[in-house]
Amino acid sequence: MTFSQQELKEQVAKAAVDYILPLLTPGSVVGVGTGSTADLFIDQLAKHKDAFRAAVASSERSAKRLTNHGIAVLDLNEVQTMPVYVDGADEINALLQMIKGGGGALTREKIVASVAERFVCIADESKVVAELGAFKLPIEVLPMALQSVSRQVAKLGGQAQLRQGFTTDNGNPILDVAGFSVADARSLECQINDIPGVVCCGFFAKSPATVALIATQEGVKTLTV
Ligand code: A5P
Repeated sequence: MTFSQQELKEQVAKAAVDYILPLLTPGSVVGVGTGSTADLFIDQLAKHKDAFRAAVASSERSAKRLTNHGIAVLDLNEVQTMPVYVDGADEINALLQMIKGGGGALTREKIVASVAERFVCIADESKVVAELGAFKLPIEVLPMALQSVSRQVAKLGGQAQLRQGFTTDNGNPILDVAGFSVADARSLECQINDIPGVVCCGFFAKSPATVALIATQEGVKTLTV
């Protein structure tokens, strides 16, 4: 029997809840990511509402889904710490460095993740790569800096393309960048962050995941560094 990608995502969403439940107390706040895998995690998390107090969402989309399940959603400013942040990834390597932001929520994802004690990445095996970079790197940019950031990105070897018809929850456009050589994702993340006008880039390399739960045809595997 071969599992579909959707079935793998459902399996890892369930595994994520099993993984985090021992980390939660009734007073805990859970950091929640964005995307199709995070959506399934929210659906599973909703079965355990007594195990935690509330959630902080990394997007309006996730906030709405949490609220629809009757889970209280807090503003991050109301929260000092969270035991865990759970989110998907567009790519993840063996160091648990990721590219995120395919859904455009990268900035809030990075902020919420930074407040949590652990980042639990949940993904199906198609997201695991030897080297990051086949997936175009999303970069959230201030509107006035679209052209200047694109030129700076070109100097780093990337070709930037405006994501058409899209603005983030923060009201900004996204550049999707192809062509980077990503031998050192951490260094490239720092270089991109330094470009004036960049709000956030989709590398999660300086602060990789703490653990990755990867759904495979042979079951959900737990990866750590
Ligand atoms: C949202 O901005 C992204 O970072 C997602 O977490 C990432 O794209 C993974 O999404 P899927 O679970 O839908 O593949």
